[in-house]
Amino acid sequence: MNYQEIHDRAADQVGPYCKNCPVCNGRACANTIPGPGCKYPGNVAARNYDKWQEICVNMDTLCPNADPDITFAFGGRTFSAPVFAAPLGSVDLHYGPKYKDPEYNHILIKAAYDSGIIAMTGDGVDPAIMVSAVKDMTEIGGIGIPTIKPWNKEFVFEKQDILKQNQIFAAAMDVDGAGLPFLKAMNPNAGSKSVEEMKEIIDYAERPFIIKGIMTVNGALKAVEAGAAGIVVSNHGGRVQGGTPSTAEVLPAIAEAVKGKTTIFVDGGIRSGVDIFRAIALGADAVLIGRPILNMIYGGGAEGLQVYLEKITGELKSTMTMCGAADLKAITKDKVFIP
Ligand SMILES: Cc1cc2nc3c(=O)[nH]c(=O)nc-3n(C[C@H](O)[C@H](O)[C@H](O)COP(=O)(O)O)c2cc1C
Repeated sequence: MNYQEIHDRAADQVGPYCKNCPVCNGRACANTIPGPGCKYPGNVAARNYDKWQEICVNMDTLCPNADPDITFAFGGRTFSAPVFAAPLGSVDLHYGPKYKDPEYNHILIKAAYDSGIIAMTGDGVDPAIMVSAVKDMTEIGGIGIPTIKPWNKEFVFEKQDILKQNQIFAAAMDVDGAGLPFLKAMNPNAGSKSVEEMKEIIDYAERPFIIKGIMTVNGALKAVEAGAAGIVVSNHGGRVQGGTPSTAEVLPAIAEAVKGKTTIFVDGGIRSGVDIFRAIALGADAVLIGRPILNMIYGGGAEGLQVYLEKITGELKSTMTMCGAADLKAITKDKVFIP
């Protein structure tokens, strides 16, 4: 099947809230939670998407004619593209009953691996969700990144023990999940983490650790101080806090402060290869994509992810060729024009 066929097939699979829009731009779902939307007032996902579209790419075709190299290295491994699958949790609640998290992750983890990239998986209230994801990752040599919620230390360590026992490649924490009610109800306390606490968690991990949910220079500096191998510049797609800037707006200053000290990922509204190019030009090393991958998996299973990745990496390569960038390092700030 081609991209359009798979995308169309998702229409009656993705539940009552997602409208399977031609481009996932955060508008039709706005503030639907449950659903794929955002917290009140519901405009963060749309802002994420819109701000990438404002950035123009600068063509330069007086360059050697070579196939662009889009391979991306992280944590001692090389990936086929600078794209990781973003963690998505409670998929049945937000997108309808076709899959529960373990089934969705089962498809995602293997499909991402087969395409040469890697899946980050979501955490949930039910510990069995991460256990099941870890089992799937173990079958492909541990290649996956479970994202742990900012539970209290004891619980985070328990989860990390599972990753260590199964030699999982890397771990992540969505620190911006700190405000979630089920965390606040925990005893001892869960929620936001001090630099000291993060340091302890990262030291205990003994593997590359990504902090997801960084939206300020100060936050990025603290993540580096805590020893994060990577940060994700992310506002969680607008799901944890209303009224934030878009990720495209905060990325340049964050990159200015920490580029080269940690790997910089960014997510939120990145939909095409042109968007990936824009994100890298603004200082990201790689991107995460969430919602559109889900639609493609709901529409076409593993093939959905593969076809979508082929589409966007083709667009990225074509943009690199048109803008005179032979590899990812060559996608510099001067390759874009911000009106
Ligand atoms: C339904 C849904 C569930 C999500 N669950 C998680 C989660 O469990 N952990 C996490 O770190 N991020 C979660 N996210 C946030 C995504 O990982 C990502 O940061 C966000 O969707 C922005 O990327 P996108 O615009 O490409 O979707 C979720 C997002 C959605 C829409």
